[in-house]
Amino acid sequence: MENFDFYNKTKIVFGKDVENKAGEECKAIGSKVLLHYGGGSIKKSGLYDRVVKSLKDAGVDYVELAGVKPNPRLSLVKEGIQICRKENIDLILAVGGGSVIDSAKAIGVGVHYEGDVWDFYMGKASPEKMLPLGVVLTIPAAGSEASPSSVISNEEVQLKKGLTNICLRPEFSLLNPELTYTLPDYQTACGITDMFAHVMERYFTTTKGVELSDRLCESVMKTVVHQAYRVLKDPKDYTARSEIMWAGTIAHNDMIGCGRSQDWSSHGIEHEISAIYDVAHGAGLAVVFPAWMKHVYTNNIGRFARFAHEVFNVDYDFEKPERTALEGIAALERFFKDIGMPVRLSEMDIDDKNIETMASKVTGNGAHSIGGFKELSKDDVKAILKLAL
Ligand code: NZQ
Ligand code: ZN
Repeated sequence: MENFDFYNKTKIVFGKDVENKAGEECKAIGSKVLLHYGGGSIKKSGLYDRVVKSLKDAGVDYVELAGVKPNPRLSLVKEGIQICRKENIDLILAVGGGSVIDSAKAIGVGVHYEGDVWDFYMGKASPEKMLPLGVVLTIPAAGSEASPSSVISNEEVQLKKGLTNICLRPEFSLLNPELTYTLPDYQTACGITDMFAHVMERYFTTTKGVELSDRLCESVMKTVVHQAYRVLKDPKDYTARSEIMWAGTIAHNDMIGCGRSQDWSSHGIEHEISAIYDVAHGAGLAVVFPAWMKHVYTNNIGRFARFAHEVFNVDYDFEKPERTALEGIAALERFFKDIGMPVRLSEMDIDDKNIETMASKVTGNGAHSIGGFKELSKDDVKAILKLAL
């Protein structure tokens, strides 16, 4: 096991009706809130009214900024920074999914910075603090409700970039599985794929002697597969929704990634796809991950065979573990298809036109490699994207 620091300050409040605690949780931090949300799902479901009532009941003043789009845009972040400065906002309350939370995080770090907030995402500066952030989560997926990361799209230059810094963890996150009943099946499946991918990015490691986190990863992945079928069969199955919601947080608050090298090249490649084609992050991952696996599995056949056996119950072929490894990749593709995800770029109407551009962007024109399980050059990325066609 490698040395590590783990610090997660986010208070999680989980269960039915917890959104009604938004006011009191905010009040404990400040008296003026930026209420940040997306394109209207929270108004349709009635969640908006409950959150506003809770703020009012607690005597918390608020200003609104709506309109966060999936793959959240830098332009709205900049608007949010101006509002926070003008209105002397004490904290941000993000009501939504990863996009709303990530947008709130960008606003929260931008407020304290005199330069362009995009500098943080380009690695030109590092944030030292963020406005306190509270979350009411509506879709289990990105894990941003407890992660130290934010991903923003700069629409002017078609770049989607992530920022990770310990100060980006929220103060509190309210998780009510019932809030996810209104999710369209496609969004539920995108979320499931994303959380599963967050575990795989950690599971495919080169670090030896990490039995505990290996087994934790396998538990999360097995649970997600099992509960995914239940939740899609009955979207109002509270138990299944609860398991999926908690799995989404566990998958990405990094508890299961402590002490081990991680990969993250599939995420890097997917971000280039969604930067250009604006696809849902989870759907992009369902296409990239199996292609990445086919490209890299020979680096450690035993690890892929173990994945197949432990997560998808594939019989372990001790004579030919490669067969087991390949069956595992096929089982993962089957799972993605079963839950309604695309597994090829062509299913998202994406052809080979921008493969060169995407491979170039993710590797800095070929200047650096990506990934930890296997270091990938620009040519490797091109090969993976071709496998995904
Ligand atoms: O905008 P509204 O109207 O709210 O609709 C949203 C949106 O269209 C809808 N939705 C959310 N909750 C709903 C609902 N519809 C009905 N009922 C509900 N309860 O779902 C759509 C997708 O929402 P979004 O927030 O975009 O989804 P997700 O949570 O998957 O977030 C995706 C973003 O997170 C980034 C992704 O790259 C992407 O930009 N990621 C962030 C990470 C992090 N901060 O740690 C890590 C991830 O790997 C990921 O990259
Ligand atoms: Zn992700």
